[in-house]
Amino acid sequence: MQREFDFTDADFERIRALIRKRAGISLTARKRDLVYSRIARRLRVLGLSRFSDYLDYLQNHNLEAQDFINALTTNLTAFFREEHHFVHLAQRFEALQASQAQDKGRIQIWSAACSTGEEAYSLAMTAVESFGSWTPPVSILATDVDTNVLEHAKRGVYGMERIERLDEARVKTFFLKGRGARAGSVKVRPELQALISFRSLNLLAPQWPMRGGFEAIFCRNVMIYFDKPTQYQILSKLHPQLNERGLLYAGHSESFNHATDLFRSIGKTMFAPVRGTAKEN
Ligand SMILES: C[S@@+](CC[C@H](N)C(=O)[O-])C[C@H]1O[C@@H](n2cnc3c(N)ncnc32)[C@H](O)[C@@H]1O
Repeated sequence: MQREFDFTDADFERIRALIRKRAGISLTARKRDLVYSRIARRLRVLGLSRFSDYLDYLQNHNLEAQDFINALTTNLTAFFREEHHFVHLAQRFEALQASQAQDKGRIQIWSAACSTGEEAYSLAMTAVESFGSWTPPVSILATDVDTNVLEHAKRGVYGMERIERLDEARVKTFFLKGRGARAGSVKVRPELQALISFRSLNLLAPQWPMRGGFEAIFCRNVMIYFDKPTQYQILSKLHPQLNERGLLYAGHSESFNHATDLFRSIGKTMFAPVRGTAKEN
């Protein structure tokens, strides 16, 4: 089949090496067609006709680096995806409220690959429900490497189909229906947005700006894109970010059997940090 753009094996190998270096994403040979269609959009925008020209352009234009990363991330997500994690967190919020442990300060939660924001807003809804208040003592940090999805997340506007499977009471409580030109979409209530800070962060970055103290880190369905050594490197940086009760919540197909010195499974893809390791001393 004749393709719109020239795309050689060597181009694919260059793209694989670059995205691995810049975002940790390991692409298998089966992802060749996906890479073609995602990067072809950049060639159209830039008026280029060969992938090799695009790769040369990328090398000489620093600003293209972010668009390159944005093009190759996979952002599938949903409100209350893997709902058992939110049920678990709600129980922990309620226990904290009962013990008044949260009086010591705000409870910090981190959504570490937040995509278009559904995970972070689900965390905010869980906090509001558990504390029975629009201003629960909870702060949510939501980060992602992809700046396009972060813009979407900050806006908090979603098509109706995104809330189809949500509980009706939650839809009524937490969303505002669009009218006029905005009919067919919903916006999350500003009270939820006020609980969340959206920031750009590459999990591969050598330094993270956070100071730790997280009660929960949701790092879900992102480690699957990284190889084991990269996962280990990120897990060793997530470990000290958790407070003494802190837990790591992972995606449904993520297991960390290669990092049992850092995290132990407590079931249902939830992990507790292993304490007293040489790494902590
Ligand atoms: C499949 S989505 C998961 C979204 C959400 N956590 C969930 O489970 O529904 C994966 C997200 O990881 C982000 N991602 C990929 N590589 C990353 C990196 N190196 N640093 C931070 N985020 C990354 C992607 O941009 C994407 O939004």
